[in-house]
Amino acid sequence: MAKQKATNVHWHEGDITREHRSRLLGQRGATLWFTGLSGSGKSTLAVELEGFLHEQGALSYRLDGDNVRLGINRNLGFSAEDRSENIRRIGEVAKLFADCGVIALSSFISPYRADRDQVRSLHEAAGMDFIEIHVDCSLEVAEQRDPKGLYKKARAGEIKNFTGIDDPYEAPEKPEIHLHSDQQSLDEEVQIILGELQQRGIIGQTGSKQ
Ligand code: ADX
Repeated sequence: MAKQKATNVHWHEGDITREHRSRLLGQRGATLWFTGLSGSGKSTLAVELEGFLHEQGALSYRLDGDNVRLGINRNLGFSAEDRSENIRRIGEVAKLFADCGVIALSSFISPYRADRDQVRSLHEAAGMDFIEIHVDCSLEVAEQRDPKGLYKKARAGEIKNFTGIDDPYEAPEKPEIHLHSDQQSLDEEVQIILGELQQRGIIGQTGSKQ
């Protein structure tokens, strides 16, 4: 947990609440947290889901590991400490999106359980939905796919601390959704997630533009 550095700072409440924004959008904000190995299909799934949600008139926004590391987190690498800070920052960003009423689709390897649990606590303390989705894929299949050629480089010793090769991945113990991306189709995965969102009343509320 990052320490509070600034002193004499106070939360400033506004007049428009999360509920107001939710009513305006006809949906409830939430954070969907995709975790899994590089090449497991997190980003592909988030893109596909975003398309389905858009078609249904639901607003979502993708926060993606590689993209975020080219911007807000460009000063972070892949040490355990930097990965933690990566997840802490993005957890806060996802929470802002969810508070805004948007469905944040957050795809990061997020290899450490403690880091993901911090983000979960942050949301739960604020009464917000945090849905952890384990995009489970065997290392063998992820490595076969190797869409960016990074496993090959890691095996050749050209990338150090690569998750799954010489860096750990701690699988979630009780994710809300456990997918097997090396066995299920993309469409099956999307339908499972949409079902969860409907069941929770995050999408499909009366007054939504569906
Ligand atoms: S995380 O571990 O901090 O959550 P994040 O999801 O942001 O990682 O970024 C992972 C992406 O960075 C991978 O998909 C891959 O493209 C790239 N990458 C570069 N170096 C590494 C590395 N050492 N370990 C894992 N991914 C890496």
